[in-house]
Amino acid sequence: MRLILLGAPGAGKGTQAQFICERYKIPQISTGDMLRAAVKEGSELGLKVKEIMTSGGLVSDDLIISLVKERIAQPDCENGFLFDGFPRTIPQADAMKEAGVKIDHVLEIAVADEEIVKRLAGRRVHPDSGRVYHVEYNPPKQEGKDDVTGEPLIQRDDDRESTVRNRLAVYHEQTAPLVDYYRQWAEEEPQAAPAYHRVEGIGSVDEITRKVAEALEG
Ligand code: AP5
Ligand code: ZN
Repeated sequence: MRLILLGAPGAGKGTQAQFICERYKIPQISTGDMLRAAVKEGSELGLKVKEIMTSGGLVSDDLIISLVKERIAQPDCENGFLFDGFPRTIPQADAMKEAGVKIDHVLEIAVADEEIVKRLAGRRVHPDSGRVYHVEYNPPKQEGKDDVTGEPLIQRDDDRESTVRNRLAVYHEQTAPLVDYYRQWAEEEPQAAPAYHRVEGIGSVDEITRKVAEALEG
């Protein structure tokens, strides 16, 4: 299965990706996680993108498209993959279309902006695995520690309130148009286009997981 998770920052893409990838045995391709790993390593790519990410802007399409093309050519993507945070602009979506990358499902997780600010303020992550928690809504078993490794959890640099507001503005301007892009394509060419599903992202993590499974398995 090949699928795209679409949704605002903090909508729960990473959270639901964990469940979907386990269930369908496919790798999670989070462009955000890949870029954060590059920043942490201090690689050339990392140095290029650090400032943009901290401000909540988008990294250039060319850079992202080549990163993703390289990633999906890896052997573990043969049976499918999940895109989390990609595509994020119309040119990124067009690049996949032009490369003939066939996607089975686009799943939109819809959450209002006010809820997102609360979610991101309480988010904690395990940087090496990308596992995501929330101090109140999805707490780890042991405070401040990852459930699997016991290593410390951290707060992301871009989860400061002013940056969150900028990320939301960028989302509405550049990424939200993909909702219509994929919806229209599904209407016009139901055979070639991915199936489009929209799930309301408000409710407990388990409730959303149930809705996601229902949408994908119909
Ligand atoms: P990226 O890492 O993709 O960030 P994002 O899209 O802003 O999304 P988030 O990771 O913030 O949110 P999420 O939807 O995964 O939510 P989560 O599950 O963590 O991108 C970061 C940056 O990298 C970008 O700003 C850009 O600079 C760059 N970048 C990445 N991809 C790019 C691309 N394609 N093109 C250009 N630039 C790119 O959940 C959030 C919180 O809510 C957690 O604490 C979680 O525990 C909690 N939560 C989840 N579900 C629920 C629920 N149902 N109820 C209550 N709380 C919940
Ligand atoms: Zn994420």
